[in-house]
Amino acid sequence: MSKPKYYLTTPIYYPSDNLHIGHTYTTVAADSIKRFKKLQGYDVFFTTGSDEHGQKIQNKAKENGVAPKEYVDHIVASIKELWKMLEIDYDCFIRSTDEHHEKLVQKLFTKLYEKGEIYKSVYNGHYCTPCESFWTDAQLVDGDKCPDCGRPTHIEEEEAYFFKLSKYRDRLLKLYEENPDFIQPESRKNEMINNFLKEGLEDLCVSRTTFDWGVKVPFDEKHVVYVWIDALSCYLSALGFDGEGGEKYKEFWPANVHLVGKEIVRFHTIIWPALLMALDLPLPKKVFGHGWILFEDDKMSKSKGNVIYPEPIIELYGIDAFKYFLLREFTFGQDGSFSREKFLHRLNSDLANDLGNLVSRTVTMVEKYNEGIIPAPKAEEEVDKSLEELAVSVANKVEAEMEKLNFSYALEEIWRLIRRTNKYVDETMPWVLAKEEKKDRLDTVLYNLSESLRIVSILIKPFMEKTSDEIRKQLGINTEAKWEDSKVWNSELASIIGNKVEKGSIIFPRLDIQKELVRLNEANQKLIERRTKKVGNGEDKVEENKEVVEEVKEEAQEITIDDFDKVKLKVAKVVNCENHPKADKLLVLTLKIGDETRTVVSGIKKWYSAEDLIGKKVVVVTNLKPVKLRGIESRGMVLAAEDNEGKLSLLTTLDELNDGASIS
Ligand code: MSP
Repeated sequence: MSKPKYYLTTPIYYPSDNLHIGHTYTTVAADSIKRFKKLQGYDVFFTTGSDEHGQKIQNKAKENGVAPKEYVDHIVASIKELWKMLEIDYDCFIRSTDEHHEKLVQKLFTKLYEKGEIYKSVYNGHYCTPCESFWTDAQLVDGDKCPDCGRPTHIEEEEAYFFKLSKYRDRLLKLYEENPDFIQPESRKNEMINNFLKEGLEDLCVSRTTFDWGVKVPFDEKHVVYVWIDALSCYLSALGFDGEGGEKYKEFWPANVHLVGKEIVRFHTIIWPALLMALDLPLPKKVFGHGWILFEDDKMSKSKGNVIYPEPIIELYGIDAFKYFLLREFTFGQDGSFSREKFLHRLNSDLANDLGNLVSRTVTMVEKYNEGIIPAPKAEEEVDKSLEELAVSVANKVEAEMEKLNFSYALEEIWRLIRRTNKYVDETMPWVLAKEEKKDRLDTVLYNLSESLRIVSILIKPFMEKTSDEIRKQLGINTEAKWEDSKVWNSELASIIGNKVEKGSIIFPRLDIQKELVRLNEANQKLIERRTKKVGNGEDKVEENKEVVEEVKEEAQEITIDDFDKVKLKVAKVVNCENHPKADKLLVLTLKIGDETRTVVSGIKKWYSAEDLIGKKVVVVTNLKPVKLRGIESRGMVLAAEDNEGKLSLLTTLDELNDGASIS
């Protein structure tokens, strides 16, 4: 029997800047839905991508002195890098500059024109260039300001094509009425009706002549297709739709759900269904408008310097902690406020104290009291029943919550079981049973704890795949998790009796919040500084992502005194110094280190001349592998400090010491 199909999408992101935690939120949510549906037996197709055309991108590319395509290519590469880092399991990354997409846009535009759904006229309206949006008088704030970004708009008049959106008002209202789930959450539907449909719709401007970075209108090439027809039809081209059909299109369209942020619900629930109606194509089943992630109740913006980037968080605490936090902390349909304290507290309470602790004590006790083998249950007691009943009921509750995309409630249900199981340890006190040699009862308790964890490992899989795998490994399970197996207690098919547990590292160590706050803040600040300083082209961005990730990794890694001891540091005297004959930036130093003399090549010529250094004492790493720098072998490295303005200073000792002195 073929599997039921499920198609879901995130918006296609503007590749005008690095994505922040807000963008990541939608994609992480979509990824969990995909994993959840897959686990339930669906054949899932998940589309994400980039929305690359438009005036804003054209302007940005110009500022950076590169062609628009070159500009977006690099940023798109860095977006893909981020999704890779987060292990996002998408099936298609559609770019609005993909050739087959552009062809589809042209086809759809022409079809709409031929059907009389698009006509040519003159547009005049308030236009906000950075937001690429025209606004009506009623929508403007403070007279002429853009309601999205607050910047002044200006009047533009130009020849343009229009889509007859106005005629779809009644059909849209009927669609909402007959399909109460089409717009979720409910409050967003009311917003659409009251703010947009009640007053009646205006026709929609769908072409522009003031810029050319876009898909050309095929029968009138001075026009480019303007924003929404281009962006929205990505959901079709991602399935290989060519205007008539396409294999994946036939399998997966209409979409089960489009996940979108609240500010673009309007485009997805008014313009998109109207366009599809005009094209006689089936409509998506649901549009979910989620809330925004704010930073401590404020909108994130680069100019305020309060943008939270995901990379440092992931590097310091791992993908699962990050995903868990996003999905558990915020109610999907509502705005939520991010703070580092909240993140770290969740980690400590839910992940270290509740889950991590349960895994570690269960495995430890099986090791200690039963030689690492999960025993079969024997002597039962009343208290076992409540654990068992709760455990097998969670999957259905998770299904119900996931149906409504209530990630936080779904996770709360799972954590109820985790906490109940921890309580079960306190109630049954296995250490007392061991002391009193009540072996049959002890076996049951150990089994029940392991069985409950087996169920937890399945339930968390869509949200925290790595942690799920790790728990299963520690329980000695080497089969794929199956959703249905989480509904059966002591299941024969998924039996863990007789498994050898394998104690691993602590899955979520407890954190010192004050220390972590500093680390997290510093890592993010560093990234903000770099990203603000370097507007550069996208290539820099990919490189810079990698660099920062490396730095954060280094910061995150503590070393032992033994590690430090590996580096041999000595005081050395510069007895000679010359310019490198073949390199502008290098100096060649002759160093006396006790009885020994050696050559070290150093890239410090920008800060020191040869004369400055002769006779000075410096600090040198003596056990570094020799390297040849432009033909001269360098045996060691002199140490220097660099401040954030790029000023460099060589290190020396506070008091005069003989060369050859060891540093530790
Ligand atoms: N390109 C359009 C979408 C076209 S879809 C056919 C677009 N791009 S965007 O990059 O500006 O935004 C993409 C998504 O990110 C939107 O759903 C938006 O709501 C979401 N977010 C941007 N900032 C956000 C937060 N701070 N919090 C949560 N989501 C946010 O719009």
